[in-house]
Formats: sequence, structure tokens, C-alpha cells
Amino acid sequence: MECFEIGALWVMVTIISIHADTSADGIQAECLGNIVQFILPGSLSAGSPLEVYAVNNTQTVLLTPHLAAQCGYTQKSDPWGNTIVSASLQSCFAENQADKEFGITMQFKLYEFPKLSEKVHKVFKSCSHTMTSREILCETNFMEVSVRNAIPEIKTAPVKQWPTVIPNLQLWKILLYTPGEKAFDKETLQAMGYNVYSSPTRLVMRSPYNTAENFVQHVDGVDIMVFKSVVLFRDRWMMTIVESAAACPISGASVVDQMISWHVPRHISPLVSSEVEILEVHMGVNGRTLTPEEMSSRNYAMTFTESHIVIKIPIGAPDGYYKSHVLKGQYHVSYNIEPMLELLWKEGLDKTTYKVLFPITTPLTPWPPQVTDYTQPKQKVFDILLGYFLPDVELLNITFGSELLTVSEVINKGIGLQEHGLPNDTKAFALQVSFSEPHVQIMSFRPDVRTYTLSLVFGFIILPEHTSFSHSMELEASITDIVLPNAGGSCEQDQFKIYVKYGSTPSSQIKIKLRNMELNDEILQQYKHHSNETHFYIIVPFLAPVVAFESVQLTGVMARIDVEVYDSLHNWSFKEFSLACPFFIKLSECFSNGTITVVLPKLESVPHLLPGELSLRDPTCKPFYNQDYFAYFRFDVTTCGTTRKFVGETMIYENEVTWKRNETLLPEQEYRFVVSCVYIANATQSMIFHAVSHFKQPHADVGKGELTVSLKLSKDMVYRLFYHDGDYPVLKFLKQPLYFEVGMDHSRDSRVAVGLENCWATLTKDKESKPRWDLIVDGCANPKDPEQTIFHPVIPDDRVDIPDHFKRFEVKTFSFKEDDGSSESEDATLARRVFVHCDVVICHVENTADGRCYKQCAVTQDTIKSSSNRVRRSSSFSEVLQHVSIGPILFI
Ligand SMILES: *[C@@H]1O[C@H](CO)[C@@H](O)[C@H](O)[C@H]1NC(C)=O
Ligand SMILES: *[C@@H]1O[C@H](CO)[C@@H](O)[C@H](O)[C@H]1NC(C)=O
Ligand SMILES: *[C@@H]1O[C@H](CO)[C@@H](O)[C@H](O)[C@H]1NC(C)=O
Ligand SMILES: *[C@@H]1O[C@H](CO)[C@@H](O)[C@H](O)[C@H]1NC(C)=O
Ligand SMILES: *[C@@H]1O[C@H](CO)[C@@H](O)[C@H](O)[C@H]1NC(C)=O
Ligand SMILES: *[C@@H]1O[C@H](CO)[C@@H](O)[C@H](O)[C@H]1NC(C)=O
Ligand SMILES: *[C@@H]1O[C@H](CO)[C@@H](O)[C@H](O)[C@H]1NC(C)=O
Ligand SMILES: *[C@@H]1O[C@H](CO)[C@@H](O)[C@H](O)[C@H]1NC(C)=O
Repeated sequence: MECFEIGALWVMVTIISIHADTSADGIQAECLGNIVQFILPGSLSAGSPLEVYAVNNTQTVLLTPHLAAQCGYTQKSDPWGNTIVSASLQSCFAENQADKEFGITMQFKLYEFPKLSEKVHKVFKSCSHTMTSREILCETNFMEVSVRNAIPEIKTAPVKQWPTVIPNLQLWKILLYTPGEKAFDKETLQAMGYNVYSSPTRLVMRSPYNTAENFVQHVDGVDIMVFKSVVLFRDRWMMTIVESAAACPISGASVVDQMISWHVPRHISPLVSSEVEILEVHMGVNGRTLTPEEMSSRNYAMTFTESHIVIKIPIGAPDGYYKSHVLKGQYHVSYNIEPMLELLWKEGLDKTTYKVLFPITTPLTPWPPQVTDYTQPKQKVFDILLGYFLPDVELLNITFGSELLTVSEVINKGIGLQEHGLPNDTKAFALQVSFSEPHVQIMSFRPDVRTYTLSLVFGFIILPEHTSFSHSMELEASITDIVLPNAGGSCEQDQFKIYVKYGSTPSSQIKIKLRNMELNDEILQQYKHHSNETHFYIIVPFLAPVVAFESVQLTGVMARIDVEVYDSLHNWSFKEFSLACPFFIKLSECFSNGTITVVLPKLESVPHLLPGELSLRDPTCKPFYNQDYFAYFRFDVTTCGTTRKFVGETMIYENEVTWKRNETLLPEQEYRFVVSCVYIANATQSMIFHAVSHFKQPHADVGKGELTVSLKLSKDMVYRLFYHDGDYPVLKFLKQPLYFEVGMDHSRDSRVAVGLENCWATLTKDKESKPRWDLIVDGCANPKDPEQTIFHPVIPDDRVDIPDHFKRFEVKTFSFKEDDGSSESEDATLARRVFVHCDVVICHVENTADGRCYKQCAVTQDTIKSSSNRVRRSSSFSEVLQHVSIGPILFI
């Protein structure tokens, strides 16, 4: 074989020297019995358009599939791009020397891009072949039979007067059996696609498989295509008949369990009579005969049954190849191999060679592409491998979302795309797409999880057919290490401070609502605010439209701001909270020149109030200035119906702000604030030197905030169980100690504390009623009877979280011997029924200046000091006062 190849090279070199303008380097030519095979390697053609020409001394003819089948040529390509051209030694353009030496010339014309340049490779191959009497060749596209032309050499009898007659036999008629007999002349048959060639020594008949006059015969379960003829040669009165037939199997292959079986009948009628003697049987592949060693090394087997020759080939054997296909849009593969069977048999003196080249394609197997996802979400890159494809598959384009990019556009965009060739001769495509690519969609189904998705469509084509298919996929990766936005706030002197930490959510996506109003630029510019990449804060003054006023107290206001931080993209809330702040500010001021100013916010509990409709006692005294959320009054003590009264050294001016509402529309609501200014005359200077303003709680103000204080009576001395509203009147023994607790049950605000100002008992529900017994005065046990009331420390437990929110005290006994100046003739039963009241102060823990919440009570009785303290503290503006009562408690 090597020897042939060297010969071939030598021949090619000769050709090159003959045809100096062509180059034949790299084209292999090989004689394989009665065929010659040329291989134009894929590396040479490199996908360029190719034309193959059959050449003889006078003609160069383009090899079309039709011409090839008629003239004894076969052209095919394999997945590696090699072009294989086989020619029968008796093909139309072959040079035949005495039926022994055959010369075949092929010309390959490559159109290189740009099509301006053509490259022509002309190859000549000479083969020696000894022909048997009959040679039958079943090629993949034609059937050929070559028989020795049995024109008798008419030897005359030894009668000298008769010259030797050499008859001039001419081909006269051809009878085809289809299977019925039909007569044709040569030209008609040629026009039908057959080829008939006769030389003095041989007759060659050739037929493509698909010609009309062939017929199929079933032989031992195999379909055999038969091309049978009788050719009549005539010279006037003399006629010779040459019978020729070709019969080629067109079925017989089957696949079971990864093994291809090819059955060829032993008696291929009409070729074989029963007296044949089979001399040789060979198996081959791709036109080349294999030795028994080569067969066993490839696990090929050839066995003989009574009726068949059976060739077995495992799928995947190296002589074949896999081929890609598309079936119903899906990627499939087949295994392809072209085994060959060669037989030599003898019938009488005549030998027949019979050669079948039988391409087998296994049924298509689906080969769904697999995606291996190497994505590590934290890297924020989709990283996938899509495989596995045969080498004949090419990636053409990728559609990202809705954008189709060709492979070169993908690479130019900087998207990672690689083709990996694998050792098992498959390939896979690796793709890396950053999460930041525009077609990557970000979705969230939970605030702390971000899901990135990308839909991809890979567009492939299969070469050389250019059939296309695509593979779509949805990539998805989720990141859970999201830092959620956080928000909070604090109460400052006279403003709220609200901050938002963006976390890992883009700040553009985070929206803030204050009291259901989204903070847009217009609202933002009304407030002091600041933001950077990670934080945002805003300062809202206590008197602002977004603030809700829960209550107005003597010492200031209880105001609340409702904050919602939400995701504008997904419309979910990250955080919703209310910040309630007591603002210890003067809502009213009394100036020494007689001017009084009052600021009254609109209370949340009086939603229909129009501050502009408020007025002083004189209904014509409307607000000096108002907005829809507050009213500001400014008036002189001598105007607007202000009253004046003298109490000892003091002078009290009083007026009230009311809403002259339409009772029929809003019967439930009342809005009334009493404003008092107390001027204490300085005797020596007769000047006003001090002012106190005072608000009366509006009836409608129930207070929404958490700073609601309750007074409770405990059932035990450890403050575990308490009487509830429905338990009153509660019965107690007269000498039984009572355990009281005052506290804020609902507040979580550790910045406030509860302090007891005064506690007392009365006989009726009215806290102002007489008689009255003081239990706690000014934060300390009644100095007149200090042993009656004992304070208990508050210890945290299940119920008590912030001890500062509670105060506890024990009343030893109610002795009812207070000298209150009331009549002793009170009904005894009435006397044994009490209500307990406390004035409670809620103070700011930070504001410890006056010590009201953390008062140290003197153990010794010092009423003088205590009362002087009282004067000082009553002018303080730093606490919120609340009043609580319980009762009745009945004593038996
Ligand atoms: C070349 O081939 C054609 C077609 O078979 C044939 O007609 C012609 O005679 C051949 N020329 C030579 C010189 O063999
Ligand atoms: C080829 O190799 C890859 C990687 O080893 C493997 O996953 C794939 O299944 C193989 N394909 C075939 C057809 O053997
Ligand atoms: C993309 O690839 C598909 C599948 O191979 C093909 O049908 C389509 O024509 C290609 N589109 C472009 C613009 O190349
Ligand atoms: C953003 O502001 C906050 C406080 O407002 C500060 O703690 C943080 O360091 C600032 N960050 C940057 C990046 O400036
Ligand atoms: C956002 O959610 C709230 C409450 O779930 C709903 O009332 C509102 O209509 C939603 N807005 C949009 C734009 O979907
Ligand atoms: C009284 O004094 C206050 C504060 O100094 C001032 O704003 C106001 O205008 C004065 N009123 C009159 C009537 O002078
Ligand atoms: C109060 O409202 C009712 C109903 O609109 C109306 O008939 C009545 O005149 C109003 N009264 C006053 C004092 O405005
Ligand atoms: C009156 O006021 C002045 C100045 O504040 C003060 O010095 C004086 O002691 C006061 N007189 C009385 C009786 O309080």
C-alpha cells in the first residue's frame, strides 16, 4: 500500500511536471482492485466550492451526479471535509491498455475566496488490474457489469480456399429484462442514463440504481436490484449474443444492540447458478479490502450461514463516522459506515468477481444537547458548557433574549465563547455571560433573593448540508446574600431624623413614603436631607404636613411619623414603621408686653378639622396664620374675649381656642383648648415676670400613640396577676394592703420613663371631689403619712421588659381619718368605697435635669422643701402629663 502511495506521489510529481500550472500536492490516489480512489483532503479544500472533472486526452467534463452514475464515478465527502472520488477502472474517461493497465485522470477545481482565484489540481493514477471473465461492481450510485466479449474467434476449418473471416460485428440491439423483455438501441439507452460500452474484448454495461428498467427481486429476505440485458451484435448474416447482468443488494442491514448486521444472500440470482465454487470472500471498508487481522482488531466479523454471508460491525467502529441530522427540529446522529464484500467464484472455466460497496446509515438517534451549568452566582457570571456535538456541527449565532448575534459579534462584544474539542471527537461550546449584560433579567420573588435569568437560543448548522437547528435554554441563578435596606429614626429636639441604609438594593429602586406620601423631589426640597451611595437621611421638623399629631399636652405634643421604605420595582415593602416622639416644646408663649401666641396642630383624631376655622372666644379672632395642618394665633391679653382674674399675687388671663363646628355634620368631635397665662406680679417692680400657659385636653383626643399609661391593682404582692376593668368593684379587707402599678404596657421606647407625680384617693369617681386622701405627693409618699405608702422596685419579667416604664407602690391601709373638712355624717358604706387617681408624668430619659422620673425622696419629713420644689417643677415643660384612675374598691 505504501508502495502504491509512493508510486502515486511519483505519478503526481510527473503530472505536475507535465502540467506545470497545476499542483497536486496532498491529493491521495490509490488503486483498489477494479476501482481507483482519489482523496482530496479537507485541509486542501478548506470548505471552498469544489468542482470535479473527469479528464481524458480529448475531454474535460464536469462530473455531475448524473454523469457520475452513468459513467462509473462516485463522489462523496466525510465529516472531516475530505472529498473522495472513486472511479471504476472502466469508467467512461479511463484509458484502457489491453484490459490490464488503466489510467484515470481527475481534475479538482477549487474556487478560493474571493472567487477571483481558482486552483486546479490535476491527478493521474495508473492501475494494473487483471480482469476476470466477469466483473460485477455494486457501487453506491451505480451497478456495473463487465464481461469478456465472447465474440468467437472464428477459426476456419483447414480449408485453404476459405480466408479467415473476421466478422465486423456491430452492436445492434439491446434487450433489457424488466423483467419482461424490451428492446432498445444503444443511443436510447444512453439517453436513459445507462452506459453501454463495448470493445473488441469486453462489454461494459452500467446502470444507475434509479433507472426505470431495473427491477427488484427478493432473495432470501434481501432486496436485490437487478439490471439484466442481452446485447445483440450483428454483422449481416451473423449475430452474437452477449448476456450480462448485475444484481446488487439494496437492503439487508439491520441494527441490534449497537451491532450492525449486513446480510448478503449467497446465491444472488440471476448471477449465480448452483454449480458455483466460491474461491475467495473478503470483507472491506471504504473500498479497501481488510485482512483477517485488520478485521479482528476492529471487531468485525464475517460468518456464513446456509443462505447468507453475514458481516457484523459494531456501531462506532473507527472506519465509519457519526453524522449529525435534524429530525423534527431536534438534534440527532447516525453512524455511517460503508462496508464492502468481495467474492470470487468460478462457474466452469469462468471466474466472476463480485464487489458490493454498501453504505449503511443507522437509524437516527436523538442526541439532546446537554447544558452543564458551572455558574457560581457570587461571581455574577453565567458559565455554561453546551455539548456534545459532532464535528460537522457549527455554531452560527446566539440569541440573547431578543437580540440575535452572530458568533463573531458575540466575540467582538467581549462575551466569553469558546469551542472545546473533546478527545472522543465531539465538541462543546462554553459561554460566559456577565449578569450585567443587558439581556440578563433581574427578578425577585423575595426581597432578599435576586434571581438572574437569561434566555438563550443557540443557532447551529450541520455541514455540508447546511441544515439548521437550534437549542434554547433558560439560565437562572439566584443570589441570596442580599443586604436588605434598613431604616430607622430618632427623635431630636424638635424634629424627627429618619435614616435609610440602602443595603444591596440599588438606591434608585428604593422609595420612601412619609405618611403615605412618596418622597419626590418636590417634597424633598422642603426638608433638610442628605444622601450618598449607601445612606439617606431626612430631617422633618415636628410641625410639618407629613407629621401626625396624636395629642397635645401641657408640656408639648406627641407626634408621629409613619415611614414606609419599599421597592418601587417589585412593589414590596422593606420596612414600615411609625416613629412617635414627644416634643417638649412651648406651644404657647406669654410675653411680658401682653402678647400671647399659640400654635395648635391639627390632631389626627379630629380629621375633619380645618385649622382656618378655629377661633378664640371672640369668633372673629381667627388664626393669625394657618396651614391645613396647624393654626397659629397671636393676640393681646386685652382682646379676643380674654378674661382676667386675680388669685393672690397672680393674674390669670384665659382664653380658649374652639372649633365652631356644624354639630349636625360632625356631632362626635370636639376641639377645645384653654390657654391660660399666669402673670406673677413682682411687688417692687410691679412687672410681669413669669408666664405659664396651659392646655386643656380636647375631649376627642384619645391618643393613638403607645404612651398610654394605665393604673392597675395587683391581686398579689408580686405583681403577677391584676384586676381588669370588668372586675370592679373589687372587694378588699380594710386592713389588707393594696398593690398598685402604673405603667406603659405597649411602649417599646426605652428613651421614655414613667414617673409618679401625685396619687390620691377619693370617694367618688370625680378626681377633683372632696374628701381626698393624698397617697403620693410630688413623687414621694405623702409627707404627712409617709409610712402608709411604700414604693417597690420593678424587676424585669415576662411582662415587664423596660422597668422604667413602670412604677409600683403599696398602700398599707386606708384609715379614712383624713381631716378634709367634709361632714362626718357621710354614709358609712360610701366611705368604704374609694377611687384611686394618679397624675403620671412621662419623661424623656435623657432629660434628667429636673430629676422628676428618678426622684430621690427624702426619708425625713420636710414639707417646706417639698412644697418649694413643687413650685419649681410645676413650671417645667419637659414632661407629658397623663391622668389615670381606677375604682371603685370596696372595703369590708
Ligand atoms: C474521452 O472520453 C469520451 C467519453 O467516454 C470518449 O467518447 C472519447 O473517445 C474519449 N477520448 C479518448 C481520446 O479516449
Ligand atoms: C464525549 O466526551 C464528553 C466528555 O468526556 C462526554 O460527556 C460525552 O458523553 C462523550 N460523548 C460521546 C458520544 O461519547
Ligand atoms: C441563526 O441560526 C439559525 C439556526 O442555525 C438560522 O436558522 C438563522 O438563519 C441564523 N440567523 C442568522 C441571522 O444568521
Ligand atoms: C454615607 O453617609 C453615612 C452617614 O450619613 C456615612 O456613615 C457613610 O460613611 C457615608 N458613605 C460614604 C461612602 O460616603
Ligand atoms: C403595590 O402594592 C400595594 C399593596 O400591596 C397595592 O395597593 C398597589 O396597588 C401596588 N402598586 C402597584 C403599582 O402594583
Ligand atoms: C411683644 O413682644 C414680642 C416678643 O418680643 C414681640 O414679638 C411682639 O411683637 C410684641 N408685641 C407688641 C404688641 O409689641
Ligand atoms: C350644618 O350642616 C347642615 C347640613 O349640611 C346644614 O343644613 C346646616 O345649615 C349647617 N349649619 C350651620 C350652622 O352651618
Ligand atoms: C422683683 O423682681 C426683681 C428682678 O427680677 C427681683 O430682684 C426682686 O427680688 C423681686 N421682688 C420680689 C418681691 O419678688
